[in-house]
Amino acid sequence: MMVPDGRLDTAGDYPFDRLRALLGDCQPPDGAVPVAFSLGEPQQAPPAFVAETIAAEAAGWGKYPPIRGTADARAAIAAWLTQRYRLQPGMIDADAMIVPVSGTREALFMIALAVVPERTSGVRPVALMPNPFYQVYLGAAAAAGAEPVFVPADREHGFLPDYASLPDEILDRAAIAYFCSPANPQGAVASLDALKNLVELARAHDFLLVSDECYSELYYGKPPPGAAEACAALGRGSMSGVVVMNSLSKRSSAPGLRVGFVAGDPEVMRRFARLRDYGGAPPPLPLLSAAVALWRDEEHVEANRASYAARFAAAEEILGGRHGFYAPEGGFYLWLDVGDGEAAARSLWREAGIRVMPGEYLARETDSGHPGAGYIRVALVHELDTTREALSRMSDTLGRTGLHSEDGS
Ligand SMILES: Cc1ncc(COP(=O)(O)O)c(C=O)c1O
Repeated sequence: MMVPDGRLDTAGDYPFDRLRALLGDCQPPDGAVPVAFSLGEPQQAPPAFVAETIAAEAAGWGKYPPIRGTADARAAIAAWLTQRYRLQPGMIDADAMIVPVSGTREALFMIALAVVPERTSGVRPVALMPNPFYQVYLGAAAAAGAEPVFVPADREHGFLPDYASLPDEILDRAAIAYFCSPANPQGAVASLDALKNLVELARAHDFLLVSDECYSELYYGKPPPGAAEACAALGRGSMSGVVVMNSLSKRSSAPGLRVGFVAGDPEVMRRFARLRDYGGAPPPLPLLSAAVALWRDEEHVEANRASYAARFAAAEEILGGRHGFYAPEGGFYLWLDVGDGEAAARSLWREAGIRVMPGEYLARETDSGHPGAGYIRVALVHELDTTREALSRMSDTLGRTGLHSEDGS
């Protein structure tokens, strides 16, 4: 069943449906243990205190969770943001600027419904998004009635979209701009200067910057800067025109907990919370308590980072110098240039039992070409031994099928 006027149909095919259709008629080889590198779902267990806290807080199952969460949760999130991005104390007004959400997917979707008007200066509003992009940005734009504008985030652009390069006519029509750093799927990280420029661009053209920072804690060099930090650096600490979103799914390997947060511009947060008064499903109280415990602990996050760093080191050993391999600055994906992503995905499933996502399904063709078609996205979400073994199988298959193998090909 689709939205009656088919708005979500126009968002194009959903990547995971397309992958199922692509691989539907082929089977992995006998004896090969299938490995899914197609979905960004961390496979290691979250810390044991998550289950313990949920059990201890069981009385909360008998209460409706408040739309803006608890004061304790808002305080934990504000403290985490302040410490992580070295914000001036008091910059984040926890009560006015924070809403915990049931994962950032629903929040990325709903925020568009909260801020995109029917018309901007008499014309259809625009939603800016990187290309390739997390599919929810496009679904949100479509549901909100905005025209999606795909901005290349290919190798030539450092794998990040350059919104400032767009004509004023588009920028003035923009109601919302999604930005993701570290980027899914490319792992590129925006500098603090780039984020400051982006905040200023959003304010100059009066659109909402939605900074999707759910991979912010998976980094392999310096911690990536964030949009709240950019707001602080621009002076007075105002977050006007900006919201940041973050999640425990990646940071704490807890995708099933479904807890994240939105923080930023108080007026936008007021509208967002009002929308949620009608249609929101806030995190249940026992889960929110577990989330608070996670936000107050960095030890498990450090262990998580170390575990991903070991997987990327293994990937470099196995694939380095081939398929345009590069070690990403953040996130947990490899973005490999294999010439034909769909053909590679089919061969990898049929010949090696490895499921990957063709880059084609994560991007759209525009006048400047298709920034995803030659690529596959490989989510390194399995433990090291599984990752190493599966990547070796992958490397053999890609080599055998004669897909692009030399660096830069
Ligand atoms: C770029 C990006 N943003 C947001 C999300 C949503 O994560 P969650 O809803 O678990 O917070 C994902 C999940 O894969 C993602 O890749």
